[in-house]
Amino acid sequence: MAKLAAYDLSVRYGKLTALRDVSLSVTEGERVFISGPNGAGKSSLLGAVAGLVPAAHGRIEMDGDILSGLSPEAVARRGLSMVPEGRRIFSALSVEENLMVGTGLRRDRIAVSDDLEIVFNAFPILRERRAAGAGALSGGQQQMLAIGRALMTNPKLMLVDEPSLGLAPKVVGEVYERLCALQEQRGLTLIIVEQSAARAARVGGRMLLMRGGQIMAEGQAADFAGNDLLRDTYFGGKTA
Ligand SMILES: Nc1ncnc2c1ncn2[C@@H]1O[C@H](COP(=O)(O)OP(=O)(O)O)[C@@H](O)[C@H]1O
Ligand SMILES: [Mg+2]
Repeated sequence: MAKLAAYDLSVRYGKLTALRDVSLSVTEGERVFISGPNGAGKSSLLGAVAGLVPAAHGRIEMDGDILSGLSPEAVARRGLSMVPEGRRIFSALSVEENLMVGTGLRRDRIAVSDDLEIVFNAFPILRERRAAGAGALSGGQQQMLAIGRALMTNPKLMLVDEPSLGLAPKVVGEVYERLCALQEQRGLTLIIVEQSAARAARVGGRMLLMRGGQIMAEGQAADFAGNDLLRDTYFGGKTA
């Protein structure tokens, strides 16, 4: 059974169709990259799966159960967690407060402190700076904080929207190292939006290439780097 499956998923904003009848299937433990130019519908796809953006039609299933129509909180309780584009951390709060946001309603305080321990073990810099203001962190540390916050709900499936955005290549490398280590240790299934096909190729995984609200091509990330199809998809070739 697929960890995640979407069937004919569409998202509209008023008259604009941002996602057009997209179907996909992701296996448990898999790492899937989604690439494509700005406006391709990558964030809309992730948002629809996470219950943050309403789907105009289509169906989403996780572990064979229907997710469509559930609130983001209900989706999170089932083990799906999203790291949003632009990180959305609270600069005025401390690192630890950022991690605790969203755990307030939970009764299982022991599990919460266990989850905090998992995050601090994965990102020792966050433990070191737990009392510091999140706004004082570097971009890479803020990305780690955003990932850490998503980990606090003990997810099995994590959607990560453009973790590389605005980070130096070396820092991007570190973020991916941590993500891959976490994936291995926690048996996570990862869906990552990544603009750089070269980076996706280096990290490795499956690649879905989007444009105009659709998946235009799919294959191993390593096979896409420097590929003509990729260039055409970005610059409007004849792949449609
Ligand atoms: N909240 C919104 N309201 C109206 N249009 C939106 C909204 N979010 C995204 N769009 C539009 O939907 C299309 C797809 O956007 P998005 O999913 O953010 O693409 P990507 O993440 O690939 O850059 C774009 O044309 C974008 O301008
Ligand atoms: Mg986006």
